[in-house]
Amino acid sequence: GSEIPDILSAEFAENPYPAYQVLRDEAPLHHHEAMQSYIVARYEDVERVFKDQVFTTANYDWQLEPVHGKTILQLSGRDHSVRRALVAPAFRGSELEEKFLPVIEKNASELIDAFRSDGTVDLVSQFANRFPINVIVDMLGLDKSDHARFQKWYTSIIAFLGNLSQDPQVAEDGVRTKEEFAEYMLPIIRDRRSNLGDDLLSTLVTAEIDGETMSDEDVKAFCSLLLAAGGETTDKALASMFALLLQHPEQLAAVREDRSLIDRAFAESLRFHPPVHMIMRQPSEDVEIAGGVIPAGSTVTALIGAANRDERRYKNPDAFDIFRDDLNVTSAFSAAANHLAFALGRHFCVGALLAKAEVEVAANMLLDAMPDMKLEDGFAPAEKGVFTRGPAELRVNFTPA
Ligand code: HEM
Repeated sequence: GSEIPDILSAEFAENPYPAYQVLRDEAPLHHHEAMQSYIVARYEDVERVFKDQVFTTANYDWQLEPVHGKTILQLSGRDHSVRRALVAPAFRGSELEEKFLPVIEKNASELIDAFRSDGTVDLVSQFANRFPINVIVDMLGLDKSDHARFQKWYTSIIAFLGNLSQDPQVAEDGVRTKEEFAEYMLPIIRDRRSNLGDDLLSTLVTAEIDGETMSDEDVKAFCSLLLAAGGETTDKALASMFALLLQHPEQLAAVREDRSLIDRAFAESLRFHPPVHMIMRQPSEDVEIAGGVIPAGSTVTALIGAANRDERRYKNPDAFDIFRDDLNVTSAFSAAANHLAFALGRHFCVGALLAKAEVEVAANMLLDAMPDMKLEDGFAPAEKGVFTRGPAELRVNFTPA
């Protein structure tokens, strides 16, 4: 057979999809020396890595701890279910719709107002990059003037998490950010306990299940996780969806005409260009998978980006088609998702419905503000990133309203 493609190569970073195809067909399980990780690529195997509890998140102790502290991603078993149940209600149902929808709308319209009379915009740097972080800062009930500070922390946290080449400067920045973030957040958290408001921070400090509550340290770590888990992902998801629609003008026209199709467009773009391309786990015992064995205690990398294009699972997987009938949109944002962009199983994205709400609101407002939006002449959207991936830039022209 041919050589196994290297997921750390420059060629892969340029375009991972041909390599994913080779891995699915010829090497559904392989060991990557430099990453010190086993890698699985097919839908059924990636799905199993998320669902089968032999695959633990023990590896997150070294991956996430230095920048976030202890978060729910590192927990398992009952510890995880209790901690997750403490935070989950804030991100769905009436809590989401009544409290946070207005925050989402306000932030989308503020960012759009800043460019709506320009006739030209980079939707990545002027919108997608800022929107989810601003929403989180406002949801938490923090000072609006702290948006810039959060943008900086956010940037160094995601640089830390994607630091494949182990740049010591990036590692140092990440650890310093953890300290700065703690210095900023801990006094606010302490104060909020005695000055409760209608915000997410107040919900977090008062959450209680079976007598269990969150310490100041727990709340701080969760807020830090929110920046990365809720910021970078939604940022890339939103930009990718618009990049794909702008490259498929007939599908963009359909969505513009019938806004209920935004959900379909979002789900399909999460399948086609997932913001998170790979997730790591650590098996607690030897596991047979994909025709081989992964030894207990080693690291396994589940390739979401490869699984979402598996021809064993989807018809014509390399076509972006919001009308495809093998993506059940009603479950695409729940734990019954039929793409893997939000993972599955016990760590299934807690913010999936928040992300959906943010994208729906933003997409509607962007379409209204730019009725004739199109890619700038000569501009072709390109993605960048390996662990997480999304458009680097999205230059759009429109007639100012
Ligand atoms: C977990 C993706 C938006 C908060 C996850 C995981 C993925 C993911 C793949 C699983 C990680 C793992 O199993 O190791 C995404 C994508 C998003 C998105 C693609 C946007 C389109 C959000 C938002 C929030 C959020 C807006 C804010 C609340 C979380 C949290 C977890 C998580 C807290 C950990 C859940 C747990 O450990 O039980 N997300 N996410 N995510 N996500 Fe999201």
